[in-house]
Amino acid sequence: MFFLIKTFGCQMNIVDSQIVAAILTKNGFSETSDINEADIILFNTCSVRDKAEQTLFKTLRYVKSLGNSKRRIVGILGCVAQRMKSSLLENDIVDFVVGPDSYRKLPSIINEALKDLKGSYTDFDYLESYSDIVPKYNNEISAYIPISRGCDNICSYCIVPYTRGPQKDRDVNSIIKEFENLSKKGYKEVTLLGENVNLYKYKSENGQKYDFADLLDILSNIDSRIRLRFISSYPKNFTDKLINIIVKHDNICNHLHLPLQSGSDRILKLMNRHYDSSEYVSLVEKIKKTIPKCEISTDIITGFCSEEDIDHRKTMELIHQCRFSQIFSFIYSVREGTYSAKFLEDNVPLEIKTNRLNEIVDLQHSISLEDNKKCINKLFEVLVEGHSKKDSNKLFGRTSGNKVVVIGNSTGSVKIGDFINVIITDCTSATLFGNKI
Ligand code: 5AD
Ligand code: SF4
Repeated sequence: MFFLIKTFGCQMNIVDSQIVAAILTKNGFSETSDINEADIILFNTCSVRDKAEQTLFKTLRYVKSLGNSKRRIVGILGCVAQRMKSSLLENDIVDFVVGPDSYRKLPSIINEALKDLKGSYTDFDYLESYSDIVPKYNNEISAYIPISRGCDNICSYCIVPYTRGPQKDRDVNSIIKEFENLSKKGYKEVTLLGENVNLYKYKSENGQKYDFADLLDILSNIDSRIRLRFISSYPKNFTDKLINIIVKHDNICNHLHLPLQSGSDRILKLMNRHYDSSEYVSLVEKIKKTIPKCEISTDIITGFCSEEDIDHRKTMELIHQCRFSQIFSFIYSVREGTYSAKFLEDNVPLEIKTNRLNEIVDLQHSISLEDNKKCINKLFEVLVEGHSKKDSNKLFGRTSGNKVVVIGNSTGSVKIGDFINVIITDCTSATLFGNKI
């Protein structure tokens, strides 16, 4: 039987889909990307904002419109499954609902569905980390390794602690083993994943303790040819030890994703983030001083409950100060069951939320353009990752700082997976253009 997985949302969902694909393949199912061929369609869903959920419902309507010329089993996996549980079974095309901790049961759940038995499987399993499963990686150049699942922070707006449960850190030895396997296979880049990677902690059976800096140190010593990235970092507990490990190893990329959320201390407090704006700025300054080439990207939410213009101005000021390489900005979206949904009023009109978001986007656009212009005539090492979307004759890759580079003269000898030196000749706010030297 053929299965197709459609993945929405974050990198953690991408890996989960690879884990599900590995489980199903091992049990005799075959993966397809053709919806007409698929006997089983799995949606691995995201719940972080309302828009992400609406995309799922639109896709379900599309699957329904394909008609029933063929029996198709439809399963909902991931965060929407965990949040909405059996209520999703009210949609007549849905056969089962499976939360992030129950993917091992999928082969038997599919067998039940073949007997027309609907089911919902959303119990948390505090020990499940899928450590022993080798994901079905989707390319041979770069891979994600999850090092922890879930989150203990309980930011007041965020659904993640409820859909993915508390933070579960993966056994350090299983991470090392997966990394060594990727190294043997010749992978060029590994991104370590966790909601807050720098809060990783593990105590082995012999009592040895590991924090995230220890883990990075071990991995970067295993294979110095592999670029190491990690996302996301929490702006608290980003230790000097961790900064020093990044400095120590050339193969740890000069890029950090450090979600800010707001530049206003009053809003940060309401969000239950455990830092204030000056602590955040000090951390950014320390990182930039110690690792001068380090690029820092961030996430910002606009229009959180009670956000006034003065709060927004503080966010804008902080963006000026920190000069991020990239900002992912989101309009606040109420998530049922969270602290802010229960106790705070979503009282910023959508128009104001949108205007503030646009102001942030415009400011970041001008900062990125200015900073990218400074890259012109400079040399960068680029890992070639694929063909440029706009011009398939050209290749693209990324710098250590996570800047996207389109390579003009890359036809011929350059292959996907090569590290090459590129001199930058031009740029937009989002992309650098250059030639291999
Ligand atoms: N509304 C808007 N954005 C949100 N995020 C998380 N929850 C919400 C929400 N309820 C954003 C945060 C987080 C990113 C992954 O998604 O900025 O860092
Ligand atoms: Fe959500 Fe906050 Fe945890 Fe990030 S740190 S997943 S925003 S609760």
